[in-house]
Amino acid sequence: MGGLHWGKCATSRLLVNYAEPYRSQILDYLFKPNFGASLQILKVEIGGDAQTTDGTEPSHMHYENDENYFRGYEWWLMREAKKRNPNITLIGLPWAFPGWIGRGKNWPYDYPDITASYVVSWIIGAKQYHNLEIDYVGIWNERSFNSKYIKVNCIFCIYIVILYIYIGAHYPGTTTVPEALKTGKQLWSSEDYSTFNDDVGGGCWARILNQNYVNGQMTATISWNLVASYYQDLPFGRDGLMTAQEPWSGNYVVESPIWITGNTGHVFDTFRAATDIFLLTVNWGTHDHSVCIRPPLLPYTVTAQRATFCLKGSFASISELQVWHSKFDFKVKKPVYFQKLSPVKVSNGSFTLDLDVDEVYTVTTITTGLKGNYPEPPPSSPFPKIYKDDFKVQHPDFSEAPDFADQTGVFEYFINETDPGPHVYTLRQVVTQRPITWVADADQTISVIGDYKWQNVTVSCDLYMEEENGGGVFVAARVDKGGGSVRSARGIFFWVFADGTYKVTSDLSGQSVLAEGQSGTRANIWNTLTLSVKGDNAFGELNGHVLWKNAVGLVPKNGWAAIGTSSFQLAQFDNFAVQAE
Ligand code: GAL
Repeated sequence: MGGLHWGKCATSRLLVNYAEPYRSQILDYLFKPNFGASLQILKVEIGGDAQTTDGTEPSHMHYENDENYFRGYEWWLMREAKKRNPNITLIGLPWAFPGWIGRGKNWPYDYPDITASYVVSWIIGAKQYHNLEIDYVGIWNERSFNSKYIKVNCIFCIYIVILYIYIGAHYPGTTTVPEALKTGKQLWSSEDYSTFNDDVGGGCWARILNQNYVNGQMTATISWNLVASYYQDLPFGRDGLMTAQEPWSGNYVVESPIWITGNTGHVFDTFRAATDIFLLTVNWGTHDHSVCIRPPLLPYTVTAQRATFCLKGSFASISELQVWHSKFDFKVKKPVYFQKLSPVKVSNGSFTLDLDVDEVYTVTTITTGLKGNYPEPPPSSPFPKIYKDDFKVQHPDFSEAPDFADQTGVFEYFINETDPGPHVYTLRQVVTQRPITWVADADQTISVIGDYKWQNVTVSCDLYMEEENGGGVFVAARVDKGGGSVRSARGIFFWVFADGTYKVTSDLSGQSVLAEGQSGTRANIWNTLTLSVKGDNAFGELNGHVLWKNAVGLVPKNGWAAIGTSSFQLAQFDNFAVQAE
């Protein structure tokens, strides 16, 4: 049984950059009723300017006196979901918070009224600017709660939303503790799945969707994540219900978890609305073909068998049932997903199914189920080897530039009203204080882009430091880490500073110095940096003149290109270009 699913932790980052019609097709597979997954819940991150697994998401309040309800892509995602299914339930949850919430401490509960009014602003902003009613908000993802904060939040909330309460557990392994049952509240698996989306992932999803209800009486199962729309070499690559990680090619893959969701999801909405409907989902998945990332799954055996079901009460008079069928095939790889079979005859209240291993059946009185389909999207292709962005967009649809995946800090489109010349439209790093983090963000800011396999590349960018004291910016190649490990990212980093120096390091933290010296750079002017890497050699140019040449044997062999700053500080970027071999 159960509701479903979400986009968060920067996992939908690349989705927004898909061209039409592919972007709408992906959204249809996710949200359109009676089409693909027909999701009934969308849970989104309330961006907090900090790293939350696969990147950072911007806050609606970077600073105390700042408010903007058009940043990031979650507003858009919620609107698109509602457009397709007006009954979809919306949930917001913070992973991290901007630094000012904690007044300097890495903790959101010392000033509960500030934190509560921050979250409530997000709820009000959703309504005011996007006409979105948020049905639920969570406390702090997988971190401690604070009852004073919850109470203050509830006092605020009661004025603006009807307050529903549910109790959620993450990755519950399909079971519930008696204490939770005793509360009489709705129980949800409010984060689950997180498994690579091949057919074992589909088997995992089939099992937990079914058993979270059967074993644990949980009426919703929410998948982390909604759609794998982030660079696959970031943490938990492809752990979404489907894959859409190539906006540059338009390729996407409707993976088995989508159809498995359809197998239960389509009918569930109707089921909720009427009690005279019969619905049974049988999941006959074998152990090894239905393991999830966590928790461990104890051994069990299933074998092919004929199962007879007896219907009682008002259901005993049913004469036939609709049948939907999925079968994973791990041998010849000819799976069947969410296929409508001929109805099964019910005689004297009983019917029979021949269950083979790794099959899922849904048997129901509902006759309206449908399976949607679009023509094949374009074939997969790598990130383009030649890539340029001058950020010249007057009214961008999104606050972030295509394909950049911020890993610490937030990089936004910016307009320099007073610039006389070529740098009116830029990209600006805007986080000026370390956020209240969810994982260990770097002390530097960084946004990565491109193909993780890139080895020999030239990366160039115009950079503008806004900080006179302590200003520093970089371009980088072969960056090997993002997500929660971003602090230990290695690569080739070419930095210039506002104090007139430069540095080349093999790490983001700036400790392993390969070269350093005078550059004459300062704040408040534009400089062009070019970094060229080939095999074990690299050189850097400042405004077209070679500044350093060096062997770079001890750096990663491949990785993304990147831009960033030496601390949480304002800085701008323009005319970004990469050429890869
Ligand atoms: C969860 C977390 C998600 C993601 C996931 C990966 O604990 O809430 O943001 O990191 O793990 O499995």
